[in-house]
Amino acid sequence: AETGCLSIIVLGASGDLAKEKTFPALFHLYCQGFLPPSEVHILGYARTKISDDELRNRIAGLTDILIEPADIFSVREAVKYVSGSYDSAEGFQLLDKEIAMHEISKSSQEVSSRRLFYLALPPSVYPPVYRMIRKYCMNKYIKYFPADLSGWTRVVVEKPFGKDLDSAELLGSQIGELFDEPQIYRIDHYLGKELVQNLVINISSGRFANRFFLPLWNCDNIDNVRIVFREDFGTEGHGGYFDEYGIIRDIIQNHLLQVFCLVAMEKPVSLKPEHIRDEKVKVLQSVLPIKDEEVVLGQYEGYRDDVTVPDHSNTPTFATVILRIHNERWEGIPFILKAGKALKKGRYTCEKQGRNEFVIRLQPSEAMYMKLTMSYDQSYCFYECCFHVCRLSFMLQHVKQPGLEMSAVQSELDLSVMRLGQRYQGVMIREAYERLVLDTIRGDQQHFVRRDELKAAWKIFTPLLHRIDNEADELSAKAGYVQTHGYIWALPPHRNLL
Ligand code: BG6
Repeated sequence: AETGCLSIIVLGASGDLAKEKTFPALFHLYCQGFLPPSEVHILGYARTKISDDELRNRIAGLTDILIEPADIFSVREAVKYVSGSYDSAEGFQLLDKEIAMHEISKSSQEVSSRRLFYLALPPSVYPPVYRMIRKYCMNKYIKYFPADLSGWTRVVVEKPFGKDLDSAELLGSQIGELFDEPQIYRIDHYLGKELVQNLVINISSGRFANRFFLPLWNCDNIDNVRIVFREDFGTEGHGGYFDEYGIIRDIIQNHLLQVFCLVAMEKPVSLKPEHIRDEKVKVLQSVLPIKDEEVVLGQYEGYRDDVTVPDHSNTPTFATVILRIHNERWEGIPFILKAGKALKKGRYTCEKQGRNEFVIRLQPSEAMYMKLTMSYDQSYCFYECCFHVCRLSFMLQHVKQPGLEMSAVQSELDLSVMRLGQRYQGVMIREAYERLVLDTIRGDQQHFVRRDELKAAWKIFTPLLHRIDNEADELSAKAGYVQTHGYIWALPPHRNLL
């Protein structure tokens, strides 16, 4: 592992993302010894003029997540703050000076300088910030180092990476002129979730290595794949951001599409990050144009009551989009991607009776399980694939309806991560951001979005998004009222995709 001083600079330090996600992840890692105090220096940068202490006090969760008073003290000591604007040479020179002071304090040792810039910022300020970092804040040699210890500068950016294909490409070329792809870490935090990572493991040890699962994973045996995101709360004060993007840009084009890739892609040459990302790009490039009749859009009732949302907004807060892949494995199979904010509780179950379902639940309560309608040939097959594919403990529940009736009922093979956790006592399920921050420090880009992957993702959704942007008013005027989801409209109205 690399050693040397490590400066983590959070730009946008006074904003919500930094407060809710970036800082808590850093503090957790810090308190658990993943970021050694002897090497690590955490710096916040933002426009707000506040002191180090004020920033420390503002960071919500600091006292909630760190129980030991000693931890609180040491984390507070590790954080410093610099204020400046996002396009000012002066601000970034000051920032560089602050980072260098920390590095020089370590210069009695032969250490390398590692600088991680985390942009917890709105995309509108990305371009000037990239330029300022490149011009004033790149890592420097402190002493003479052997080449492999010369350190690095990396930049972490958060979605949204653009609003459509052209804007994403423009953003991509702006950053591409200043930094090489191995220096750029585009975060999609779904890639840091326990079960999304489990899918990656499954690619090697399950889907493709298991002789029972392998023959099943195709259009001859799978009827449909549903990837569902449901939040039971609405925009809650984040309406300003959300309204500009809508549910497809906020959730489907990134989070759900990443899960889609991992489920649908072919076996990578190896588990090396580049090989996995190559396969993701290939499957994205095989997606057929989305058909109008395979899209449903909607907006939950009460969305416009959020004071941060414009009164007449027609931004969709709900969408179902069917993707179809043109390749031998998936020809004709619908991948149903469904996402909604403020959706009432309810389960999306298989409409067709007698179908077996393999469920991967990313959250809450991470789990994989199978719902089976037993017949002897199927049960044997699924039993094996659970055991080999998932390498988790399982429990076969009722297959006969309890009681006097001799009827078959759906049963579950329970592959819950909790159960596995009981076996590996003391191993914590990590928050997505913690894993991803550690990966950036280790230089592992597997769970980050590559530029060509992003391009392929935008290509799929851009025609639909342009249509919605241009015609949302007209479409919503035709909307019917569906009690469970507020009002729903479709392209054209097509209720049975709900
Ligand atoms: C973010 C979206 O990327 O993901 C939010 O911008 C959404 O709208 C959030 O609420 C959901 O993340 P998680 O990890 O809570 O599922």
